[in-house]
Amino acid sequence: MCGIVGYVGFRKATDVLLDGLRRLEYRGYDSAGVAVRTPEGLRVVKRSGKLSALEEALKGVELSGNLGIGHTRWATHGAPTDPNAHPHATEDGRITLIHNGIFENYLELKEALKARGHGFRSETDSEVLAHLVEEKYRGDLFLAVREALEEVRGAYAVAVIHAGHEEIVAARTVSPLVIGLGEGENFLASDVPALLPYTRRVIFLHDGDVARITREGVEITDLQGRPVAREAVEVDWTLEAAEKGGFPHYMLKEIHEQPWVLESTLGGRLLEEEGDVALDLALDPKEVERVQVIACGTASYAGLYGKYLLEALARIPTEWDVASEYRYRDPLVDGKTLALAISQSGETIDTLEALREARRKGARTLGVVNAKGSSLTREVEEVLYIHAGPEIGVASTKAYLAMLAAMALLAVRFGRARGVLDREASRGLIREMRKLPRLVEEVLEKRPLIAHVAEKYHQAQDFLFLGRHVQTPTAYEGALKLKEISYIHAEAYPAGEMKHGPIALIDEHLPVVVLATQGPLYEKTLSNIQEVRARGGKVIAIATEGDEEIRKLAQEVIYVPQVHPLLAPIVSVVPLQLLAYEIAVLLGRDVDQPRNLAKSVTVE
Ligand code: G6P
Repeated sequence: MCGIVGYVGFRKATDVLLDGLRRLEYRGYDSAGVAVRTPEGLRVVKRSGKLSALEEALKGVELSGNLGIGHTRWATHGAPTDPNAHPHATEDGRITLIHNGIFENYLELKEALKARGHGFRSETDSEVLAHLVEEKYRGDLFLAVREALEEVRGAYAVAVIHAGHEEIVAARTVSPLVIGLGEGENFLASDVPALLPYTRRVIFLHDGDVARITREGVEITDLQGRPVAREAVEVDWTLEAAEKGGFPHYMLKEIHEQPWVLESTLGGRLLEEEGDVALDLALDPKEVERVQVIACGTASYAGLYGKYLLEALARIPTEWDVASEYRYRDPLVDGKTLALAISQSGETIDTLEALREARRKGARTLGVVNAKGSSLTREVEEVLYIHAGPEIGVASTKAYLAMLAAMALLAVRFGRARGVLDREASRGLIREMRKLPRLVEEVLEKRPLIAHVAEKYHQAQDFLFLGRHVQTPTAYEGALKLKEISYIHAEAYPAGEMKHGPIALIDEHLPVVVLATQGPLYEKTLSNIQEVRARGGKVIAIATEGDEEIRKLAQEVIYVPQVHPLLAPIVSVVPLQLLAYEIAVLLGRDVDQPRNLAKSVTVE
């Protein structure tokens, strides 16, 4: 997974490329590089490390030219070194390219190319394509790239330039790529935010598309060179929405956007009078006998919440596992199975592949997705958009909340359609759902208290998170947030399971975060808190406003507003996001770009 940008037009290419890369750095930040077509030929500058290293290297280098490509890398094949950074060039330097994805058969191709006299300068799979294009090139770059791509297997988004052509040839299969349309200039990027300062008219390339981009226009064909028609669409994201908006980190900004994100996920879909929700889905819930959740990471925890809700409100048996397991467990699927794929980016390869497996086996498919036009949205029968807006912080926050809200919408719709959720109960839930944006706003006001708790516990080596029923996924997500951005070891368990093993970890050094909001299992959770206390553990409780009892048992209490127990995760995860954030800041971590992680993982 990497970020790709391209520019052809009248501006100074380096400026456009660096600006685009800055907006894509969340896609990977192991190295960065640009190639610009100058009067002296193609010039490549690339550096390992973050974009700032490239910017430093470019100081004092005059790269004049109005056509170029740029790349920010998340390393797969080959360590994050200067030679392995993109762009990669042929030996004569006349062809250079950038690549996101993996060429699975690159080793055999590389051996054959070496045998034919090609010299390699990097350990990457990507460089192979530059040499293949060189071999195929007979004056037509567009054709040469298509022919070269016929020989590679795998996932890719590529952009290729040649010293002798004022054009960029771009192609994609699996990995995302979008063209931005301007006047007398055109753009290329792996994601929309890179294009927003320049244009809102975009073309999303589809799998197997190859595009020739010049100043004047765009020509798109399939790999065989047959023209394909792709519509230009207007994207409605504002640039400001994709930037930090005054907060020190994207993550904090995104945490604070959650009230309006909930508004946009839920707004217009809640039908209080009817006790139902409007989802605009053709799928008939009565035809579904079983749901299988497919997702990774944070999205998978939203899916686990979905399982609890679908079973509680719609009485549909729901299976849950992470996509990388689903795909290889030979799941039992039939035409009455609904594969529910959840993804912020819509580009996570494990999720896409698991979905394809479900489809091959005959499942119906529904995507719960944030990124419009992403690969997942094109591979499912129907999409329920969560409308969270662009999420830049690598650790997902607002998309998680929006996914939880989407799960609640789905469960209510399914419950109503299947006749197992009565109108009154549903109305009650919907009334509570309406309150959620305001309730989350109240939780955000607790930030100073949460910062104080973070101050007290940020030196801990380990954390344990516990929750029951719908709060089990909240515990998982709280632990994931903490480990992702603070690098503190954190584990999560269903609270009732603690006594079967993790209890051995408890001593006075272990902070235990317990989701102890009001609900049918509150008393049981209190017993678990007692068990922690008895062994000297420090309890940080997330409890419902007005619960005085819990003060006697927990060292720290963070109150969240009263809400329907099934919706409590939506308010309860917010303090856990803030806790992880404050701890990470205290420890001096790189909150928005934690080590080893990437925003969307497009490799298996
Ligand atoms: C990566 C990210 C996680 C994210 C997961 C799923 O691993 O680091 O934060 O939850 O992918 O991403 P998706 O875009 O499919 O929701």
